[in-house]
Amino acid sequence: MRKHILRCISCKKEFEPKPGLYYCEDCGYILGTLEVVYDYDSIQEEAVVKERNFDKKASMYQFEFLLPTKPKLTFDNDIGGTPLYKFDLFGLKDVQVKYDCSNPSSSYKDRASSIAINRALDEENDIAFCASTGNAASSLAMLNAQTEMDTYIFVPAAIPDGKRAQLEISGAKVFAIEGTYDEVYDFSLELGLKKGWYCRHAAINPYLLEGKKTGAFEIVIQNDFDVPDYVLVGVGDGTVVSSLYKGFWEFKEIGLTDKIPKIIGVQAEGISAIKEAFEKGKPYKPISIGGNTIADSISVGKPRDVIKACKYVEASDGYFISLTDEEILEAIVDLGKTTGIFAEPAGAVPYGGLKKLIYEEKITKSDTVCLVITGNGLKDVNAVQGSISRETLSFEEAMKRFEE
Ligand SMILES: Cc1ncc(COP(=O)(O)O)c(C=O)c1O
Ligand SMILES: [Zn+2]
Repeated sequence: MRKHILRCISCKKEFEPKPGLYYCEDCGYILGTLEVVYDYDSIQEEAVVKERNFDKKASMYQFEFLLPTKPKLTFDNDIGGTPLYKFDLFGLKDVQVKYDCSNPSSSYKDRASSIAINRALDEENDIAFCASTGNAASSLAMLNAQTEMDTYIFVPAAIPDGKRAQLEISGAKVFAIEGTYDEVYDFSLELGLKKGWYCRHAAINPYLLEGKKTGAFEIVIQNDFDVPDYVLVGVGDGTVVSSLYKGFWEFKEIGLTDKIPKIIGVQAEGISAIKEAFEKGKPYKPISIGGNTIADSISVGKPRDVIKACKYVEASDGYFISLTDEEILEAIVDLGKTTGIFAEPAGAVPYGGLKKLIYEEKITKSDTVCLVITGNGLKDVNAVQGSISRETLSFEEAMKRFEE
């Protein structure tokens, strides 16, 4: 495990890591989320040696020199190392698509769950828990199935069937509660921390960003150390967008790249809390709003990593945008038709976001762009039911189609 300290994102107070320390109590659990800070000077030399041996397809544990735990799970060697495809889209050549649906549980969240489980094992925990809009939970449940640790999952009762099935099949103890994600989150956080279970809440447990940041490391090495101008990703609680910035920042800090892309966080117009907080300006404050969207994974009204998300996106010179549910549905279908990729709604929003920014001439043909596709469409087939034809034909009718 790489030596590190923890630092409050708001008051900058520093802490020595210890089990059960998740946030700065002076600032509270939203203002006081912690950053994992390494001794970058000491890592720099090691990184330069490693630079020659990075593998564009290897798992995220090739970056162990910047991670807070070691791989121990069967799946660990298959997490990360996801493809970076290139497509010509909207008149832009070589738009990059970071395809994270190829992780074991089919979402970006495996990067974080792997770190959570390995750290929980390091600390000899019996139970890991999380509240989730679906993917973090199914990821934790599936990766944890092989360990002796129990998995307690708290989700809104309305999560899509695909994600619920992943939970049940992996043997997790599932508590599907009639409430919003925000309500379920607060309930489970209070309960889980009181019981002393290991917390896999990405916005509270600072180590989870460490797994997620490896997506940015991979984008750097897959671009031969030159980064794209823009990176677009879906935003709910704000951890994925924050982790991408941290990853680019760390690689710049240790001299492996000299630029950080502008990071564009894409939200759903029905519930775009972080965008609102960002646009209200500094000092960034916690926010709580109502609303809803078809993009269940990013249906978050009380985002927990709002402070990091705003500070980091600002530091990258990026910003937040939002899409209507119609635009999100259109993005899923267009992404499928132009690339063959089937993304769940939150996974398709970067594509819709790019379309919008090109239309608004904020991104132009000379820009290089990477879209991070975070979740597989098969997890939420219901979302696209309006685009699924239910027509069935007899053989005769099918043959007739070719005679017409
Ligand atoms: C597929 C997908 N994309 C994007 C996100 C957004 O991540 P965050 O809540 O960390 O902003 C999530 C979170 O659940 C997700 O499942
Ligand atoms: Zn603090």
